[in-house]
Amino acid sequence: GGEDIRMKYRYLDIRRNPIKNNLIFRHQVTMEVRKYLSDHGFIEVETPYLIKSTPEGARDFVVPSRMNEGQFYALPQSPQTFKQLLMVSGYDRYFQIVKCFRDEDLRSDRQPEFTQIDCEMAFVNQQDVISTFEGLIKYLFEKEKNILFKNAFPKITFNEAIKRFGSDKPDMRFGMEFNYIKDLTKGFNFKVFDDAQTVIAICAKGAGNFTRKKIDELTNWVKRPQIGAKGLIYVKCNEDGSFKSSVDKFFNQTCLSKWADNCKAEKGDLLLVLSGKKSSTQKQMSELRLRLGKELELYKKDEYQPVWVVDFPLFELDEESGDFHAMHHPFTSPKNEDVDLLFSSPEKVRANAYDLAINGVEVGGGSIRIHDRILQEKVFNCLGFTKDEVNSQFGFLLNAFEYGAPPHGGIAFGFDRLCALMANQDNIRDFIAFPKNNSGRDTMIDAPSELDDIQKKELGIKIIDEI
Ligand code: AMO
Repeated sequence: GGEDIRMKYRYLDIRRNPIKNNLIFRHQVTMEVRKYLSDHGFIEVETPYLIKSTPEGARDFVVPSRMNEGQFYALPQSPQTFKQLLMVSGYDRYFQIVKCFRDEDLRSDRQPEFTQIDCEMAFVNQQDVISTFEGLIKYLFEKEKNILFKNAFPKITFNEAIKRFGSDKPDMRFGMEFNYIKDLTKGFNFKVFDDAQTVIAICAKGAGNFTRKKIDELTNWVKRPQIGAKGLIYVKCNEDGSFKSSVDKFFNQTCLSKWADNCKAEKGDLLLVLSGKKSSTQKQMSELRLRLGKELELYKKDEYQPVWVVDFPLFELDEESGDFHAMHHPFTSPKNEDVDLLFSSPEKVRANAYDLAINGVEVGGGSIRIHDRILQEKVFNCLGFTKDEVNSQFGFLLNAFEYGAPPHGGIAFGFDRLCALMANQDNIRDFIAFPKNNSGRDTMIDAPSELDDIQKKELGIKIIDEI
């Protein structure tokens, strides 16, 4: 049956072996996570689900309180503040396999309620956290997949990842890196490139035989609103050493051969070029690179290439509102050497934050935290919180820092994602017994649903129809 039928009769759907095997696999990984972390001195502590908002970048799910009419709990987007409080309390190594709730747009790797392996350690620096949890990932792959990673996982800075691959979770199983060729395209009266902030080319090895139809299809694909490119330029590197491009009218053979040299293209290869605003062109090219990597089978299906992405910016600029947001969350510490830039050049401040990406999937992310009241207040200030807002929303944490907070840091892995990735599948839904559909509904139990009048009255809730 189709997706709708499968979800409505989920109890029958999960009788089938493919899903049953996934759930058994998930169970085994759960057991190994608990074993590894317990063996390394971590203890599992549960934290509450009925809490106050934790800013992880999504909207909160809220729960009305009957006993405190007109007031609401928020469900945790993560246990972030609680795990930090546990550090203040002296529980040096904490973990929890825990549900998190985020009201955000859903995709194949996002559910409104999902599970994290959430971890925190006291008296550590970035490398301590990275080494400990790289150990966990290596252990899981060895136990469950018989895959041995002999070397340390490579590291790449955020800036380099964006520059070379257009993504902060680069798929390192194949190259096809970005080439910036704006300088080689200047002065030929090709307005599209002349007006562009950047011109990026990638070289698709052996794709010089793509038909016109295929290239048109790729062009239409990058022009879809989800990707948003204005067009796609191609250059075919013919077997006889000549070039055929969609911009032959503007660029002669010498010029095209310079592009090809720059991209290390050879006979039989295809160059694909996008141009425009830097950040959006990088994103669009990243999508095209991923699609071509898959189609040209540039990697083996059962190959795993982890990479730590480090040195994230502390803030990101919301281009619509002009405000700065925390790129990870507001408790992430800035690098010591960048603290002085907090107010003068916030966009330049780097964070002590790290993500683990495997095969282009963001499997986990974390940071070294701020454990000092004054610095935390400064960061809230940069994020535009007033003193009153800080006190009412985060007063409990700032107060806790007054009672001897150890330096601390941690990480959280997306557990559903990790299981799907390890089992070589794309959709995390197939690793969750009773997931939600893309509109956030559980069609089997028909949730969410309306409340009856008695319940609404008890909760002091009135639904106002929008006119
Ligand atoms: P972050 O927000 O990066 O960090 O989340 C950690 C990991 O959780 C997974 N993830 C999701 N999986 C499924 N569905 C979702 N909607 C979803 N959202 C996130 C991702 C992600 O890498 N408190 C911090 C961690 C920390 O700083 O220690 C946090 O939650 O794999």
